[in-house]
Parts: sequence; structure tokens; C-alpha cells
Amino acid sequence: MRVLVTGAAGFIGSHLCRALLEQGHEVTGLDSFTDFYPRWMKEAALEPLVSRPRFVFRDADLNLLDLEALLEGVEAVFHLAAQAGVRQSWGRSFETYIVNNIRNTQRLLEAAKSRRPAKLVYASSSSVYGLTPDLPMREASPVVPLSPYGVTKLAAEQLCTLYHKNYGLPVVSLRFFTVYGPGQRPDMAFHRFLRSILRGEEVVVFGDGRQTRDFTFVDDITAACLSALVSGRDGEVYNVGGGHREKLADVLSLLEDICRLPVRRRMEDKQKGDVPDTLADIGKAGRDLGYAPRTPLREGLAREWDWIRNIYGKERTP
Ligand SMILES: NC(=O)c1ccc[n+]([C@@H]2O[C@H](COP(=O)([O-])OP(=O)(O)OC[C@H]3O[C@@H](n4cnc5c(N)ncnc54)[C@H](O)[C@@H]3O)[C@@H](O)[C@H]2O)c1
Repeated sequence: MRVLVTGAAGFIGSHLCRALLEQGHEVTGLDSFTDFYPRWMKEAALEPLVSRPRFVFRDADLNLLDLEALLEGVEAVFHLAAQAGVRQSWGRSFETYIVNNIRNTQRLLEAAKSRRPAKLVYASSSSVYGLTPDLPMREASPVVPLSPYGVTKLAAEQLCTLYHKNYGLPVVSLRFFTVYGPGQRPDMAFHRFLRSILRGEEVVVFGDGRQTRDFTFVDDITAACLSALVSGRDGEVYNVGGGHREKLADVLSLLEDICRLPVRRRMEDKQKGDVPDTLADIGKAGRDLGYAPRTPLREGLAREWDWIRNIYGKERTP
């Protein structure tokens, strides 16, 4: 299939492009290299892709491009381009979240109305649940986002649903739960922790360490995306999580074991927008997509640790 991946130079997008190429698809990856984190990290993620014969990269902003022209001949779209990050979404930077999470999604959906790709998969987020009363979180649970980021991801997801209802667009939304692995964004906890451990610095933990998260290895996320292309039901929303939750404090002990280095913890105030717990009910993704997370946390973290040692071995400022 001819596939478009938006956010292709990002953490998850670059892994997804690789997985699609391995399945024999023709992939156009698009990214505008927003300055949320350093460009060299995105270029490093793209490097193994650009030499592949069935891969084309476009350095372009979804908000500026003629999207009808972009979608010409495209059979499937994975829409991952976004402004990520819960903690940074307050205050003046909210504008960036509106533009890169809501407006670009609406523009893409408008273009898809006439170009009619066979499938459009939207990268939604567990942050839409926020303070939902349910644990595990089910797709039918109330959505109560706790951060401006969560509000924008939910708005875009709801746009996808209503373009399905009104125009019959074949959109599937996947709610990713805290994704980790090689290439993880530098603002995310495991990346920060591992980098600090490598440098012998204190590991800064926001909150008391008792918060729990459902962590999902990036290969499990890409597997769910590939399945959504084939068997995702149009107009539906699916949780994609690791299927169990870990206390942050316990993960730090696990990291001590994996890295074989001491972890000096420094506790700081809980950050606004951070929810106390996340846990996905992955039953629906299991039934419809055949989804089952395969990578245990210890193995996934060991792979991220190898990557961290590799990229910061030369010590560049993130
Ligand atoms: N990483 C996670 O734990 C997680 C969890 C839930 C949902 N998600 C969602 O998954 C997607 C990918 O997340 P990620 O962690 O890989 O983030 P990322 O920041 O690494 O990747 C996003 C990419 O989108 C690009 N981008 C942003 N706005 C753009 C625009 N207007 N035009 C073109 N490109 C643009 C950025 O340059 C970036 O490379 C996002 O939609 C995010 O909301 C991620």
C-alpha cells in the first residue's frame, strides 16, 4: 500500500515507518522538525530510513501544505504529528498545541474527505482519560482530561469520530499509553532517568513516586498500528497499553538493577497535569486487532538503556 506517516521523524513515527517498510509498504514520511526537542535526535531516527528504496521523506508542516495534493494516491494515513508533552502544555505554549494537535488534524480530515484513503489511523492518548473514575480505563469510560495537552488530543480524536459519522471516513483512533523504548522523547521519564543515571546525576522524580503508569514498549505500539490498518473497525477507538501498571518508585529499583549503577533520587513537587494512575483495559484491542503486548518492562528498558548509552556516549547536549 502507499502509506503516509505524519510525525515520521518523531519517536513513534520513525519506528512505525520502519515496521511499514518491513511489511513491504511504500512509505512517505512527513515531519516539520518542530523545536520541542533537538533536531539531531530526529535526524538520527530518520537516518536508517532515508536510504530505503520504498521510503520518501518530506520536510513540511501539515498546517501549511496543500493536503489534498499530499493525499493524492495515498491509500492509508497514520497521523502521529503532534505537539506532545503534558507538562509544557500550560500557558503561552498552548497555542502550539492547538495548531499542531487540533488544526492540523482538522485540515487532514478535510483533505481526506475528497481523497478517500482506505484507512486513517489517529494517534490518540491515554491522557484523554485524565481523572476518569475507572481503573482499568475502558474506551467507554468518561473522558476527563487533566492537562491542556489531553484536551487537544481529545478534541482531535473527537474530530476524527465526527468525520467518520458525517462523512463516512474510515478513521480508527488508538489511545497510546506511555510509550517507551529506543528513540524515546527526551522530556519523557525513562529517557530523563536513564540519561541522569549514565551521567551520574540525581534522578528527578516528580511527585512521591507512588504514581502508577501503564507503560507500552514502542514495538507493541507499532504492531497495534499495523493491525489497525487491516482490522480496525472504522469510527472506533482502541486502548493500546502494556496491560499492567507499575509504581514509578519500583521502576527506579528495576533501573538500578538493569544499569548496574546507583540511582540517586531527588523528589520534586508533582507537576500540574500529571494523573495519579493509568491502566489500559486492552480487551477491545485484543478482540478486534489481535493485539497483545509482547515486551516485558525489564527487556524494553534494557533496550532503551542500550540506546541511551549509544547516543549520549559521545555526549551531546539534548
Ligand atoms: N510517546 C508517548 O508516550 C505517547 C503517548 C500517547 C500518545 N502519543 C501520541 O503519539 C504521537 C507521536 O508521539 P511521539 O512521542 O513520537 O512524539 P514526537 O514529538 O517524537 O513526534 C511527533 C512529531 O510530529 C512532528 N510535528 C509536529 N507538528 C507537526 C506539523 N504541524 N507538521 C508536521 N510535523 C509535525 C514533530 O516534529 C515530531 O517529530 C503524537 O500524536 C502523540 O500525541 C504519544
